[in-house]
Amino acid sequence: MLIYTGGTFDLFHSGHVNLLAKCSQLGRVIVALNTDEFIASYKGKVPVMSYKERKSVLEACRYVDEVVPNEGGSDSTVTILKVNPDIIAIGSDWARRDYYLQMGFTQDWLDARGYSLIYIPYTQGISTTNLKARMQG
Ligand code: CTP
Repeated sequence: MLIYTGGTFDLFHSGHVNLLAKCSQLGRVIVALNTDEFIASYKGKVPVMSYKERKSVLEACRYVDEVVPNEGGSDSTVTILKVNPDIIAIGSDWARRDYYLQMGFTQDWLDARGYSLIYIPYTQGISTTNLKARMQG
């Protein structure tokens, strides 16, 4: 099985590790990593760690097989089609938000290509945003 998961993965933390470990139980894990330019345009601020820094940490994680840039930005279909995964995995925090709108695909688009979308249980109590708040003291 080939697993696609996308994200920013800034200030790599245990929530990221848990997600990637679950993905890895399913098969080979490809991370589509958001570029600095896309993050700046989408979040309105640059990440603490650059693309190169975030990529090198992900590549050192035993649960990650390959890191590729999320080339299409808000249109994730560009990179998904390149990866051509069996499964698209995302943290379950997205089950309460419009992940389809965020990613730029529809259920029909997934079905037509045979891509399964799965939600991995979200790790409560830690996130990049939460770590930044902790560092404020
Ligand atoms: N994730 C998770 N558990 C957490 C934090 C993130 O499962 N505690 C998952 C997200 O659902 C996503 C992936 O990790 O599938 C990458 O999330 P990302 O947005 O890069 O990290 P966050 O820590 O959620 O960043 P932020 O606080 O900026 O939203």
